[in-house]
Amino acid sequence: MSTQSDNQPVPAENRASGWVIFVFFLIGLIASLISGWIAFPNLLYSTQQQPIDFNHKAHVAQMDCSSCHFFRDDGSFAGSPTLDECKSCHMYPMSNDPDEQKFIEEYVKKDKEVPWLIYAEQPPCVFFSHAAHVKGADMECRTCHGDIGQSTSLREYQENRLTGYSRDIWGYSMLRLGEAKHGGRHKMNDCAECHLKETGSKGDCFQCHK
Ligand code: HEC
Ligand code: HEC
Ligand code: HEC
Ligand code: HEC
Ligand code: HEC
Repeated sequence: MSTQSDNQPVPAENRASGWVIFVFFLIGLIASLISGWIAFPNLLYSTQQQPIDFNHKAHVAQMDCSSCHFFRDDGSFAGSPTLDECKSCHMYPMSNDPDEQKFIEEYVKKDKEVPWLIYAEQPPCVFFSHAAHVKGADMECRTCHGDIGQSTSLREYQENRLTGYSRDIWGYSMLRLGEAKHGGRHKMNDCAECHLKETGSKGDCFQCHK
């Protein structure tokens, strides 16, 4: 049996407070999205600059990628260049560029290798072969690394404070925006998804793990 009060219309001030609650909910939602998307990643990653800057575009105009990133006779990939790939040109300055001066003073003259930070570097438990992909499967560098080969400057390196891994492992955006600019994403599932597509199998653990 209903009482009379059940049938009474909602008073106007209660409807207004419904709106107030909704507005506060919206403000809270927006604030948490901002902190989740902008503030949290900034806290999670520490930023480091490369020891010296390097201009791919200027160098690639004069030589191939393989002058610096080549396969050794045993099939292994040389990876980042050593001083041997630079000395033929940079024994003496060729420009007024401060990065070139620093490069010559601090590294070439002291015969000290540049401690480059590797954006794509995998955890030590992972096995990755460039030969299988570049030679075996005829893949282009940019498929996995983005457009760095055409860049005029090395971007900053970001390290995950919790795992110590490069930010490139987990990527720069959940929606995978701007990957060509930032380089690819190298999560376990990114490797496995492409393997499934190309070979019909995600592979077993010891294919990729040491
Ligand atoms: C004159 C030498 C030189 C040439 C030529 C050159 N690079 Fe590089 N490359 C470097 C140096 C120096 C770095 C910085 C060290 C690093 O990040 O590994 C680098 C870094 C890279 C990286 C980043 C690897 C990582 O994850 O840190 C990629 C990818 C790359 N180069 C691709 C290319 C491609 C593609 C070409 C040809 C279009 C090319 N490079 C030509 C010297 C060279
Ligand atoms: C075939 C010759 C040649 C080789 C090999 C070479 N460079 Fe250069 N490099 C140049 C020239 C030429 C310039 C000047 C480009 C300009 O200012 O227009 C230059 C400029 C630079 C600069 C200053 C401007 C910039 O690009 O940031 C740095 C730093 C540099 N090179 C580093 C390296 C490193 C590191 C290597 C080895 C991985 C290397 N270069 C290998 C020819 C070479
Ligand atoms: C299938 C994806 C893929 C392709 C294609 C690929 N790379 Fe890589 N590259 C990687 C991964 C993953 C790493 C990290 C490897 C590791 O840490 O063991 C890496 C590392 C590197 C490094 C740093 C290596 C080091 O340890 O010093 C350079 C430089 C590089 N790649 C250049 C290139 C160039 C140049 C090409 C084209 C000739 C290329 N890569 C093609 C995925 C790829
Ligand atoms: C865009 C596609 C693609 C991506 C991304 C990719 N791979 Fe591959 N991978 C291939 C193809 C294609 C082959 C060759 C398969 C074959 O020859 O049967 C291969 C082969 C391999 C092999 C077998 C090599 C051998 O000879 O036994 C290993 C190990 C491997 N990939 C590891 C990785 C790892 C680790 C990653 C991620 C960091 C990765 N791959 C990312 C396409 C990819
Ligand atoms: C196609 C290559 C590939 C295969 C196959 C693969 N993994 Fe991975 N795995 C990776 C790569 C690359 C990473 C590093 C990136 C990441 O954390 O996503 C990784 C990371 C991991 C990690 C985290 C390690 C750390 O230090 O963060 C674990 C645990 C792991 N894999 C277990 C497995 C197991 C178990 C299997 C078999 C069911 C397997 N993986 C199969 C490529 C592979």
